[in-house]
Amino acid sequence: MKTRVVCAEQGLDEAVSLIKSGELVVFPTETVYGLGADALNPEAVKKIFEAKGRPQDNPLIVHIASVEQAREIAREVPPEFYALAERFMPGPLTVVLEKSEAVPSVVTAGGHTVAIRMPRNEIARKLIALSSPVAAPSANRSKHVSPTAAEHVLYDLDGRVPLILDGGECGVGIESTVLDLTTDIPTVLRPGAVTADMISEVLGKVSSAGKIIGVAKSPGMKYEHYAPTVPAVAAFDEIKAFARYDEERQAGGNPVLIMRERHRAAAGGRSFISLGDTPEECMQRVYAALREAEKDYSFVIIEGLNGEGAEASVMNRIMKSVGGRVL
Ligand code: TXA
Ligand code: MG
Repeated sequence: MKTRVVCAEQGLDEAVSLIKSGELVVFPTETVYGLGADALNPEAVKKIFEAKGRPQDNPLIVHIASVEQAREIAREVPPEFYALAERFMPGPLTVVLEKSEAVPSVVTAGGHTVAIRMPRNEIARKLIALSSPVAAPSANRSKHVSPTAAEHVLYDLDGRVPLILDGGECGVGIESTVLDLTTDIPTVLRPGAVTADMISEVLGKVSSAGKIIGVAKSPGMKYEHYAPTVPAVAAFDEIKAFARYDEERQAGGNPVLIMRERHRAAAGGRSFISLGDTPEECMQRVYAALREAEKDYSFVIIEGLNGEGAEASVMNRIMKSVGGRVL
């Protein structure tokens, strides 16, 4: 199959036809690029798992174009959903509800709940509004780093999808927060740009499943994820990071530091990829930095972040990308 990359506005009509005829389309969202298919067509959804090499037991997010569309997807839409929608939708928040009959079981990996999200990207919403609710995981090969630019998608999925809509760089940069509303206390299954504190301002009590090690309620959390193709470690300490770098260098390796801009001067002449400085910049850049690093270097030393909120969400992805290895 030949893969074409087309400017998002120009490719919209073709993308709508492809989705309607049961084919795959990669589209931009504000978080990461999505690999979409008609969520109500099980044969189309199966193609997502094939193209990504994704395990069948990991369910997909259904993307909608309006808050009202949630009623087609969920058995019942509780008032908490509307309260969250008021504040965070469209945006980087996914909400898990009991699924409706309309959603095929391949989407939910056989489960009785469904993850629902309304992306902020206009082209993504037009695509959905003009075709169907769209099931979409991140548009990377399974286990690789999520794509935040069309070129990242092409690198992973060339020859596996007919069309990539190029909408430029994703503004948020990590995947949406996943919040389960089917539990007694709303539970954050995957942290993101919408933090537990922000959700708690709307709903009151919220729990964070990510903190309970070994519990894989969000099936995706049990898989190795977001990993670059070269070995990587995290370092909370500048001195340790530089020492490891120098050691690697002496052993004949080609290491790189991925750190906040504030460490650049101290890093001296060592190879350096910047994360920017604010938590939002780190979030937006982390995946592109990992992809750049694996292309040009043989060993990655990435800065660990200590903060709460958005910084903790970035750190969640950094820990997965290094497989838990910390200096
Ligand atoms: O920002 C995003 O969420 C991106 C863009 C494309 O929207 N999508 C994305 O999809 O990250 P994916 O498939 O890479 O991650 C979806 C996560 C997985 O960890 C999956 O296990 C979880 O959401 N998930 C999906 N359905 C679920 C459900 N019914 N219950 C619990 N977790 C669910
Ligand atoms: Mg993913």
